[in-house]
Amino acid sequence: MAQISVVANAKTSTPKTWVLFAFDKEEGFFNAAAKVGKNLWKQIKEEGFSGKEGQAAVAHWDGQRFIVLGLGTKKELTSETLRRAGAKLARKAREVRVEGVAVEWPRLFKEEQTHAFVEGVLLGSYQFNRYRTQLKDAPKGVQKFVFKVPADLAFSTNKAIQSAQNYCEGALMARDLINGGPSDVTPRVLADAAKKLAKGLIKLKLYSTKELEKMGAGGLLGVNRGSAEPPYLIHLHYKPAGKAKKSLAIVGKGITFDSGGLSLKPAGSMETMKMDMSGAAAVLGVFSQLAKLKPNVEVHGVIATTENMPGGKAYKPGDVLKAINGKTMEVLNTDAEGRLVLADALSYAAEQKVDGIVDMATLTGACVVALGGLVTGAMTNDPKLLAEVKKSTDAEGERIWELPLVKEYKDDIKSKIADMKNIGSAGKAGSIIGGLFLEEFVGNTPWVHLDIAGPAWMDGEVSSIPYLTYGGTGLMVRSLLHLLENA
Ligand code: BES
Ligand code: MN
Ligand code: ZN
Repeated sequence: MAQISVVANAKTSTPKTWVLFAFDKEEGFFNAAAKVGKNLWKQIKEEGFSGKEGQAAVAHWDGQRFIVLGLGTKKELTSETLRRAGAKLARKAREVRVEGVAVEWPRLFKEEQTHAFVEGVLLGSYQFNRYRTQLKDAPKGVQKFVFKVPADLAFSTNKAIQSAQNYCEGALMARDLINGGPSDVTPRVLADAAKKLAKGLIKLKLYSTKELEKMGAGGLLGVNRGSAEPPYLIHLHYKPAGKAKKSLAIVGKGITFDSGGLSLKPAGSMETMKMDMSGAAAVLGVFSQLAKLKPNVEVHGVIATTENMPGGKAYKPGDVLKAINGKTMEVLNTDAEGRLVLADALSYAAEQKVDGIVDMATLTGACVVALGGLVTGAMTNDPKLLAEVKKSTDAEGERIWELPLVKEYKDDIKSKIADMKNIGSAGKAGSIIGGLFLEEFVGNTPWVHLDIAGPAWMDGEVSSIPYLTYGGTGLMVRSLLHLLENA
């Protein structure tokens, strides 16, 4: 990740590429000296630059290089504008092989906008290079970024930048885990990642097959049966040094590969199913930053992880599994496996007697149909907790939209032989059915379910959102860190 320093009014050596901002309909830059600005403006105006949102151009003057960014109209400026501008800068810098940039940071920008800009730079710079061997001449992108700020703003700017770096380090860790091949990122690898995080204020309990049998984690064990890799229930626990304001559990679906099991997916649908552990990756990404951010909240991170495979011992349609909370689930489709492993993870989280649970799961294709690739489906038994989550997702530019947990639809998951069945009727409210199923396992605990099936993964790029790169997005890491910090 780029190294970002804040320099207050000092005349230290700075990279010789400068970042300038312009508003649409306001000729010139508001963070350049008048004479420089005038000259540069003339140059780029000819190329069609007018300050519109999403525009970026390069110009030179007096031996210095300038990357200029359009922000749209001043009236419509939001944090998200700056997040996108930061990412646009990252893309442009890589394109023109610039590695060091400096900026005179304008007073005009608020703290959360500064935070968002830096997020954009870091997220937009991300490249997944694990499997590349020919990197020698590849442009690196922004490696060093110097912020020159007025002395009175140095402290708050530094804070905004530091938190953006923490949030993005967590999100990028999640991206790396999601993007790794499914045979490289197995349940064991997620468990090892959790082990690395367990020190200081963070403790780990790792449950493997034997313990899971004792606990009666029949959902996770059932889904695991067709796989050659062992399952784990991962429980990370962060306790702040002082008195905690409250306690939250964040729960992640950790299917490291979803073949569908015996209800096998078609080949095309399997291509990206290494991403079915994006919820788990988000939990790990969040925990990777807690020791540094030290929020005043007790946090439990619970991950149920296994592959979903069709091996000879695989669980079968018709099987009945029993979750940790004692409820029985008739399996009619082995591809609706997420809810079965989450049944155990949520039961376990509820047993921790927390004030709230937020689960993240790539649960249903139906959610992608309903909301597409940029919006998370949110469901809840507690509107207040959802409102808090929404505040944080809004602040971090991660969109969620509530789907109602229509009680009457519970009829659709009534089983003829068990407490419930794991699918509803085809083509009917698939995401809500998933949410209603999960609700059976949280008891009275306030709970928000985030179905991240769409936005956890990008099939391609969206030109207007340059901080999203192909592959795993690291969704919800930043939002959850914001939630924990503002609880
Ligand atoms: N992991 C999938 C959901 C998914 C689909 C995530 C597409 C990301 C993109 C989940 O386990 C699944 O297979 N769900 C089934 C449920 C159905 C059998 C009730 C689905 O959506 O088809
Ligand atoms: Mn599935
Ligand atoms: Zn799945």
